[in-house]
Amino acid sequence: VPGGSIGNLYGMHLARQRAAPQVKEEGAAAAGQLVAFVSQDAHYSYLKTARLIGLGAKNLISVPTDRMGRMDPDALMAKVAEARAAGKLPFFVGLTAATTVRGGFDPLREVATRLDGSNIWLHVDAAWGGGALFSPTHRNLLDGVDMLDSLSWSAHKQMGAALQCALFITRNEGALAGANAVNAAYLFQPDKLNSDLDVGDKTIQCGRKADMMKLWMLFKQQGDEGCARIVDSAFSLADHLVSKIEASDGAFVMAHPRSGCNVCFWYVPKAMRPLPPNAHLDKSHPIHNVAPKIKAGLQREGAAMVGFQAVDGLPNFFRWVFASPGGVVTNDTVDEVLSRMAEIGEA
Ligand SMILES: Cc1ncc(COP(=O)(O)O)c(C=O)c1O
Repeated sequence: VPGGSIGNLYGMHLARQRAAPQVKEEGAAAAGQLVAFVSQDAHYSYLKTARLIGLGAKNLISVPTDRMGRMDPDALMAKVAEARAAGKLPFFVGLTAATTVRGGFDPLREVATRLDGSNIWLHVDAAWGGGALFSPTHRNLLDGVDMLDSLSWSAHKQMGAALQCALFITRNEGALAGANAVNAAYLFQPDKLNSDLDVGDKTIQCGRKADMMKLWMLFKQQGDEGCARIVDSAFSLADHLVSKIEASDGAFVMAHPRSGCNVCFWYVPKAMRPLPPNAHLDKSHPIHNVAPKIKAGLQREGAAMVGFQAVDGLPNFFRWVFASPGGVVTNDTVDEVLSRMAEIGEA
């Protein structure tokens, strides 16, 4: 697939096909009262898909997350029960392995276990976090992934494959063809050579580049150990950044607990120290203007690009996500960027 967003689309589309196969002929109005669930921190592509497939934004139910940015399974079960009690048909749960901002890993095994036998399609958006599966040290973050119906992963994120290079996998044989195949006779002849290897009709697109070639070459070049090294070094850079923040005596402050390779933090100018706790912070606090000023400074110098955002009711904070470092970003780079952030923040 072209990316994680389209991978999520495949997941929800296949789920809808399983729950309401009549839609293919009759249209979305024939689906009945379908409802899907994602965490409040899930990627916006789930919402785009809900609109695109005719589910409707209102039928994509948001589930609260805990302090680590993980979907709360008790809240999910309560929302599923509530929907059923209202005569609706829950058909899809879109989980996430490494949410975009906070890096939360939803509890895959617990959700899969609790929804076992429910006939709800379980998909995980592992666009960011799927790389952890290559690391014996970190793959436990996706514990239970083998119990799900489908997964999408963007190798063009953490693994550093050139855009575009992402994949969608489902364990439900025949589901891709069931949802997408139209048997265009001029292309997908059953009597041509190697027709069993032709996946074209299972996909939404027609003409494609051989994007997966990049992944194959990455595997050939790096091997299992190299892939694990890429992931482990990103985690270790995140460890280093967190240790620097914690040792900074209030100059840098974590905005959220660290999860995976995502580190969310503020630089706090001397005049604003100590920064009040999160519960007392919102966009009206002057810290809101600090990250944009620092980012613009770093960007103008060509020194670094570290994104910021005001989400979760908090003033703008930095979100540094370590991806595909490949030896280019080192602990020294992190130290240099932090000290430049501090200089620009005081200027
Ligand atoms: C959790 C998550 N899912 C999906 C996407 C979209 O992935 P892509 O850019 O490969 O479409 C992103 C992008 O950052 C993401 O963070």
